[in-house]
Amino acid sequence: MASLVSLLFTGLATTSTASIQNPKISPTPPMGFNNWARFMCNLNETLFTQTADAMLSHGLLAAGYNNINLDDCWSLKERNAEGQLEWDTSLFPHGLPWLGDYLHTRGFNFGIYTNSGNITCGLYPGSQDHEELDAKTFEKWGVDYLKVDGCHLDLQHGRTYYEEFRYRYELWHDVLTTKLKTPFIFSQSAPAYFSPNFHLDQNNTDWYRTMEYVRNNGELARHSDDIKVYGDNPTNTFEPGGHWESMMNNYGMQVRLSRFQSCGFFNDPDFLIVDWPDLSMDEKRTHFALWSSFSAPLILSAWIPDLTKEDVEYLTNKDIIAVDQDALCEQATLVSQNDFFDVLTKNLANGDRLVTVLNRGDDANATSVPIERLGLHPKGAYKAKDLWTGKTTSVKNKAIHVKLRSRQTAIYRLSSDAKLKATPTGQIFNTFSMNCLSASSSSHHAPSVKFAACNAAHGQVWQIATSGSVSPLSAKGKCLSARDGEIKLEICDKSKKSQVWSYGVNGNLVNRAKGLCLEEGAKAAVVNKCGRELDSQVVAVPGGVKLEK
Ligand SMILES: *[C@@H]1O[C@H](CO)[C@@H](O)[C@H](O)[C@H]1NC(C)=O
Ligand SMILES: *[C@@H]1O[C@H](CO)[C@@H](O)[C@H](O)[C@H]1NC(C)=O
Ligand SMILES: *[C@@H]1O[C@H](CO)[C@@H](O)[C@H](O)[C@H]1NC(C)=O
Ligand SMILES: *[C@@H]1O[C@H](CO)[C@@H](O)[C@H](O)[C@H]1NC(C)=O
Repeated sequence: MASLVSLLFTGLATTSTASIQNPKISPTPPMGFNNWARFMCNLNETLFTQTADAMLSHGLLAAGYNNINLDDCWSLKERNAEGQLEWDTSLFPHGLPWLGDYLHTRGFNFGIYTNSGNITCGLYPGSQDHEELDAKTFEKWGVDYLKVDGCHLDLQHGRTYYEEFRYRYELWHDVLTTKLKTPFIFSQSAPAYFSPNFHLDQNNTDWYRTMEYVRNNGELARHSDDIKVYGDNPTNTFEPGGHWESMMNNYGMQVRLSRFQSCGFFNDPDFLIVDWPDLSMDEKRTHFALWSSFSAPLILSAWIPDLTKEDVEYLTNKDIIAVDQDALCEQATLVSQNDFFDVLTKNLANGDRLVTVLNRGDDANATSVPIERLGLHPKGAYKAKDLWTGKTTSVKNKAIHVKLRSRQTAIYRLSSDAKLKATPTGQIFNTFSMNCLSASSSSHHAPSVKFAACNAAHGQVWQIATSGSVSPLSAKGKCLSARDGEIKLEICDKSKKSQVWSYGVNGNLVNRAKGLCLEEGAKAAVVNKCGRELDSQVVAVPGGVKLEK
């Protein structure tokens, strides 16, 4: 399939394709299993054979979880005389090709792990300068899926840290797409090594730039922190605490990156953790609903044979998996956010609209999401299917009303008799400061526009029309305009270029009058000369906005 696609694309500069150029390698986000967060280096053959057997008997394979992936620590500590990697026979007595067959026979893909530096994170041999040899070795073993981590890169030929990563992941892309019969699904950890928590003293520019190039290289971007493991100790004893916070941290990273995702390339907020004793059922279901709303990979890290009936039930919820695997591959984006509720939405391939509401507060609470905030005409007749219960009700009073326990998430599929046509609607926020573009209006003063803490007010919910105009719900008929470096809200006028904005994967909202970028200034929102993915200028916008190159 890959070769056919390259033939069709011979007009382009590149001959090897993957990810956004060849979405067929993974048209929807992968689902499956990885041992890392649950077992770390305590892996062996029976762990994987028993996991495969249990995935079958629990109906997880039938639900779509069809990748079984090994993480770090599977190899010997030295390469063999031919320079090849070898599996540790004390852990894998029948060998990895045998394990691959075991998985394939049962309907699974076989995934493996290596590292772009010359030593893995767990201190096993890495693949730096062995990329082609290792890829061909994995191919011989029957591998279908490869995670390439980013520990211990040796900087060569005067390359900077950023440049060495870029060189290595582009090299991997070339190897996987030109040297193999069928390219593996390629999971790239590069962005995690430039993410906000990794180098606290660093700005986000290199993180954004890394996200930009990895979407041309492979199918997945492991974009930030690892999900907190079960127990970071040699005996794998459970250590409670911090797991909910870890999920919310990765969620908070993912929402900054929606612009990068499209079919064939998926932002990856890391594994779904399922059997951690300190997570409540609400928290686990929230994890699943949020990741599915994102169309994120659903890779379980858990001891699958002992999953409870309730765990298996939510993990195999067909309606929610359908949202994850939706053919549009959209990542749901934030409509609004405050200390209590996050509201997310996205388009679905059949013309429905997704609505996801998380109660992130410490108490049970209720809220209403006005239909208008979902980019839909408030006067239409809508039905909402609760994807947890399967019940459909008609939408009353032009809003979706939800009551949620602390850390519980509601997820609905909104439909109408006709296909819904939503206007991109929601927060515009700086993905470094996480402040929201806010229109404050009072009856006495002209409305002012600034970046402020997100509070879910009407003045923080913006609509972006296909014409490129940007208006807050609090002042309909007023459009965001740039004049002499200042941002104002003016009466909308389609003839004014100062009211037309465009948005691209670089995250800049560019005013068409003078090509200046929206910027978070100290006191107000301003426009300024566009820089290279600057902290002050990169924003997230509601999903569905047409991206400029
Ligand atoms: C395989 O690994 C699992 C998980 O760490 C462990 O419980 C089991 O004892 C191991 N089995 C063998 C044969 O080493
Ligand atoms: C990794 O690179 C360093 C620096 O070039 C070298 O000293 C070391 O031997 C290499 N290690 C392996 C396992 O290749
Ligand atoms: C941000 O990081 C980039 C890339 O490392 C660097 O070129 C730039 O100078 C940094 N900007 C600031 C304001 O520190
Ligand atoms: C419920 O949420 C609202 C914001 O939507 C907040 O003002 C209120 O304090 C919350 N109530 C509780 C009990 O947390």
